Amino acid sequence: MKIGIDKIGFYAPHLYVDMTKLADRRNVDPDKFTIGIGQDKMAVAPITQDAVTLAANAALGILDEQDKNDIDFVIFGTETGVDSSKSAAVYVHELLGLNPYARAIEVKQACYGATAGIQMAKAHIAMNPESKVLVLGSDIARYGLNTPGEATQGAGAVALLVSAAPHIMSLEDQSVYVTSDIMDFWRPVYSDKAFADGKLSNEQYMAFFSKVWQQYKAKSGLGLENFEAITFHLPYTKMGKKALKPVLEETTEDVQERLKANYQLSTGYNRNVGNIYTGSLYLSLLSLLEQKDDLAAGSRIGLFSYGSGAVGEFFTGILQNDYRDHLHVKQHAELFAARKEVTVDEYEAIFEETLPTDGSRVELDINNDPAKICLAGVTDHKRQYVNKLR
Ligand code: HMG
Repeated sequence: MKIGIDKIGFYAPHLYVDMTKLADRRNVDPDKFTIGIGQDKMAVAPITQDAVTLAANAALGILDEQDKNDIDFVIFGTETGVDSSKSAAVYVHELLGLNPYARAIEVKQACYGATAGIQMAKAHIAMNPESKVLVLGSDIARYGLNTPGEATQGAGAVALLVSAAPHIMSLEDQSVYVTSDIMDFWRPVYSDKAFADGKLSNEQYMAFFSKVWQQYKAKSGLGLENFEAITFHLPYTKMGKKALKPVLEETTEDVQERLKANYQLSTGYNRNVGNIYTGSLYLSLLSLLEQKDDLAAGSRIGLFSYGSGAVGEFFTGILQNDYRDHLHVKQHAELFAARKEVTVDEYEAIFEETLPTDGSRVELDINNDPAKICLAGVTDHKRQYVNKLR
């Protein structure tokens, strides 16, 4: 039985800051951000968007009534959870009006959470071929104003519908995963900003990729020539390029050119959104599929997932016949086109605006947020979500 990705949805908040303007303000050469880091625009989440609403908006764009009825498992990968106890998946389940006879959980391991979700979903479908699983990867990346990590912030979510007989990509069974206790990036529970040892995190990302790739080759007997493209978790778009470069020496120039060209296409959306942590790898996959219109059905795509702390995994998928008919290319192009630029001053003010932590009541103005699903306030320590379509 084939099991894999049947639909992919994406949502980013409607605001962004231009990286060259941010560079100017920080007295940095703009080329450092646009070439050295590889980011052009950074999505900025208004206070009316959090990990729950971003994920719900991403899923809203792809699910039909049949899906809502068939989904019996919602797995929410995030490291920007809004509650230490209740899972973000329960809120999304309600906001989307999903079948009540469903499981709903949150999964955490830095940027690796959604990949763990996909692998769980695959096992669930193997046992329950009629069901569908909604896997969400949703985050707001915050390092702080004027920090080295600032240029690698971002916000957004990806929603993946996993099912039997998937329309977009079937997942193959060979997979290599590795865990090692490393303090390269972390966020203590008392902080709303992440801490990162930038240099160590870059080194470990590369070392994890090298480890899982070498092990994958040994296990599968496959090599780079068997791949149409390799997609990466992209904390910033230069990172995957740095990881891919050393392994390219293993293959012919033709294959190198193909992998490099497809890597470039796989960074398009991420370059304009920033790091969305759990959703980042899947945004990169989406970017490749939606921006390259001649990827042949049957092509094998590699996926490298990395979640600091750290867990890495390399797994693969095969593109299905007519997969392009099941993408939402126009919807995502409209989403990008409708975004609004904010100035660096506006971005800084939005960044500093946070919800009260003492339970005091707050009502937020959701009229300026074009998203269908928004956070409307907090009452009695409870977040108040609104689906404007209801
Ligand atoms: P930095 O120290 O400011 O930057 O921070 P740098 O000095 O290392 O420069 C970056 C690159 O720009 C270098 O290129 C420079 O040469 C180049 P590289 O050596 O990497 O090829 N550069 C220029 N290029 C063109 N023109 C110029 C110019 N100037 C310099 N004028 C860093 C960079 C990424 C470390 C920082 O932003 C950071 O700490 N970010 C957060 C951590 C991070 O993203 N780590 C990535 C791996 S860990 C990961 O992926 C997991 C994560 O997503 C979290 C999770 O799992 O949940 C982060």
